[in-house]
Amino acid sequence: HLQPPNDSQMGDLRRENCRAKGASGGFKVAVLGAAGGIGQPLAMLMKMNPLVSVLHLYDVVNAPGVTADISHMDTSAVVRGFLGQQQLEDALTGMDLVIIPAGVPRKPGMTRDDLFNINAGIVKTLCEGIAKCCPKAIVNVISNPVNSTVPIAAEVFKKAGTYEPKRLLGVTMLDVVRANTFVAEVLGLDPREVDVPVVGGHAGVTILPLLSQVKPSSSFTPKEIDYLTDRIQNGGTEVVEAKAGAGSATLSMAYSAVKFADACLRGLRGDAGIVQCAYVASEVTELPFFASKVCLGRTGVEEIHPLGPLNEYERTGLEKAKKELAGSIQKGVSFIRK
Ligand code: NAI
Repeated sequence: HLQPPNDSQMGDLRRENCRAKGASGGFKVAVLGAAGGIGQPLAMLMKMNPLVSVLHLYDVVNAPGVTADISHMDTSAVVRGFLGQQQLEDALTGMDLVIIPAGVPRKPGMTRDDLFNINAGIVKTLCEGIAKCCPKAIVNVISNPVNSTVPIAAEVFKKAGTYEPKRLLGVTMLDVVRANTFVAEVLGLDPREVDVPVVGGHAGVTILPLLSQVKPSSSFTPKEIDYLTDRIQNGGTEVVEAKAGAGSATLSMAYSAVKFADACLRGLRGDAGIVQCAYVASEVTELPFFASKVCLGRTGVEEIHPLGPLNEYERTGLEKAKKELAGSIQKGVSFIRK
């Protein structure tokens, strides 16, 4: 079943999809870039998620190998592989959720924006496929620079006439996961008990942890605030340097992407009170996109939470974040409109 399906087989596949969904009540999820450093562990963890009935693994290389491997896991999701651009449409047809970790990662000395030239085009092509084949799917964008790739996706969907801001989410979950870990370390708590809102965007100073709103309610010394803010903003670079040329965060990212995708799926299922931080079209600031806490439901982003009270340190950080974000958003928009 690793052979590319032909047209008549696709009909069978769709019927099989319906059966699989009907039987388990699960969702159909595609991972684009599934053979990559993030894609592989992400695909594995999605195969373990009981909310997933069908898992499509797409990449321009190695998709058959990853698919054969993951399909042997004894969990219920049906796994299918799709290799190369000519199979993109089959990979996307009928999907409820599309997760995009396709694209090149950073090497030491690079910023996320240095990836723009390559990844912008990749995200554009993949989103054109989504607009055509599963325009109602929820889309989770992981490919960097997220601050620009989400506006790119929005522009592609607008052009295609399928744009629904509620369904497009930039994944900033890793910033929250890191913040929870580092803050828990300082407080001497179990990270699972800690909740740190991280707002703004997903690069350098645009990553704005709101330490004044940490749960459980905690206070920090000015030194701790500097240390934590810097470590959360540069957590990605910490990994890039430790990997010394072999890429950026993949395992903690796959964990975060699955945590976030699971929240999206529980929202789609109709669970109440699913709140996570994400980079979305927003009116929380004057910028068209901003990351903050959002409530996830049957239609995607159902509510965007306001930032809440900020202290002076955070207000200063917010101004810096907005300045950089504005440029990154504009860069993404111009890439499609030019
Ligand atoms: P990787 O290079 O290991 O994997 C990327 C995969 O994308 C490869 O398998 C490649 O074949 C595939 N790919 C390339 N062009 C494609 C196309 N046109 N269609 C489908 N697949 C394509 O990179 P890695 O480490 O998995 O990172 C992927 C992306 O995620 C990078 O842009 C990285 O910066 C980003 N990232 C985002 C994070 C976030 O918090 N949002 C955190 C860490 C990384």
